[in-house]
Amino acid sequence: MKTIFEKSVVGRVGVQLNTALNQDVELSGAQVRGKLNLPEVSELDVVRHYTALSKMAFGVDQGFYPLGSCTMKYNPKINEDMCSLAGFTDFHPWENPEFSQGTLEVIYRVQEYLKAVTGFTGTTLQPAAGAHGELTAVMMIKAYHLDRGDVKRNIILIPDSAHGTNPATANMCGMQTLGVPSDEHGYVDLNKLDEVLNDEVAGLMLTIPNTVGLFDKNILAIAEKLHAKGALLYMDGANLNALLGLVKPADMGVDLMHINLHKTFATPHGGGGPGGGFVGCVAGLEPYLPAENVVKDGENYKLVSDAPKSIGRVRAFYSNFGVIVRAFTYMLRLGKGGTEKVGRYAVLNANYIKARLKDYYHLPFSVHCMHEVVFNDEAQAENHVSTMDIAKRLLDFGYHPPTIYFPLIVHGALMIEPTETESKETLDEFCEVMIKIANEAKTNPEILQTAPHSTVVRRIDAVKAARQPVIACGVSCLKD
Ligand SMILES: Cc1ncc(COP(=O)(O)O)c(C=O)c1O
Repeated sequence: MKTIFEKSVVGRVGVQLNTALNQDVELSGAQVRGKLNLPEVSELDVVRHYTALSKMAFGVDQGFYPLGSCTMKYNPKINEDMCSLAGFTDFHPWENPEFSQGTLEVIYRVQEYLKAVTGFTGTTLQPAAGAHGELTAVMMIKAYHLDRGDVKRNIILIPDSAHGTNPATANMCGMQTLGVPSDEHGYVDLNKLDEVLNDEVAGLMLTIPNTVGLFDKNILAIAEKLHAKGALLYMDGANLNALLGLVKPADMGVDLMHINLHKTFATPHGGGGPGGGFVGCVAGLEPYLPAENVVKDGENYKLVSDAPKSIGRVRAFYSNFGVIVRAFTYMLRLGKGGTEKVGRYAVLNANYIKARLKDYYHLPFSVHCMHEVVFNDEAQAENHVSTMDIAKRLLDFGYHPPTIYFPLIVHGALMIEPTETESKETLDEFCEVMIKIANEAKTNPEILQTAPHSTVVRRIDAVKAARQPVIACGVSCLKD
């Protein structure tokens, strides 16, 4: 295929602006960037160039996307219609609340829904992503201890199965982090927890389900141990879809948590945002929530910023509002009956894949998983086939690979998250391909070691790509 530069013909233009409209606009010499080496192409060439590029990429609208942890989920098209309504898009965030009742109502109703499913009484939707929700929560933990005059608590405990953003967040807040290892089942090792718990610990950040895809069945004991020492239990609930309709975090001794709206409530996720990082907390932590908050006063909604102990604002205006509208649309679609099924399907689908593939791929932890299942390449090692080879071979069959080499505590991890929205037929087709690949590993390992064979870009030199990345191809093309 010719590149856009190869298609360039001197003097060809895409769109000719109407000179009658344009005649007053004389660009001065300094404004004309004559040396820019841009391709001279027609409108059709440009449209076809970008359409061809888009076909080289893989997206959630193209096929099954079993990436674990930072999953690409269902992105309902009605969500896009709703957040594009002129009443929302034309609205200015500095509008007087008198004229923004509809907008405030959406925020309020999403907060109420999330309160109902998590069991918390305090909420904010201000954070713009998951890690931002974590930051908000750790700032609240800090404010809580300082407000009580408990100034020496500067340690945050992080189990080794926590999401990577947890220790980074604690560090950002000026806290010291201390690791807690997992036991042989993948749960927090309670004996090790006892060893590190003291009166300098501000809290523990527990990812539930953890990054191995497990529900820590000792959560009540963990909460009890922390509370007995005056520390708080924070839950990274980015993947609340695994628990929706099954259990409420506030009933498990959790003091505060965040949820990724862009993972649990079908809003787009990619490139780091835009996202939504709801934070919920127990009554004792409410004074520290970010101001402003949306409350209902009689029949009206208003923004309240009078909160002297608040950690302050964590974002200009109020979050990524379009994301809140998308999440609201999904919540309305689910209704009560649908909400109650989310967790069941998310867990069922992952365990279905686990059951179908367990004879072909090694399972480091054999207990029931939650919304994602972690295998590794131990069974393929004798044929010198690695997790990377399996992931690359999946591309030949038109699948986006699962998350690989994460979580770090599993050597050669292959983490699959089917989500609650995929059909049994899709899961079966995927499992058939995974089984075929496992058989190929025995009969023709080379086909895996040299995969992919059918993609536009074949296997890249991963080490070179990491050490000498060419990250500005567009610019270097222009220079050439
Ligand atoms: C468990 C968990 N916590 C936190 C995050 C961070 O979320 P975000 O990427 O929105 O900052 C993720 C990633 O999606 C996650 O899977």
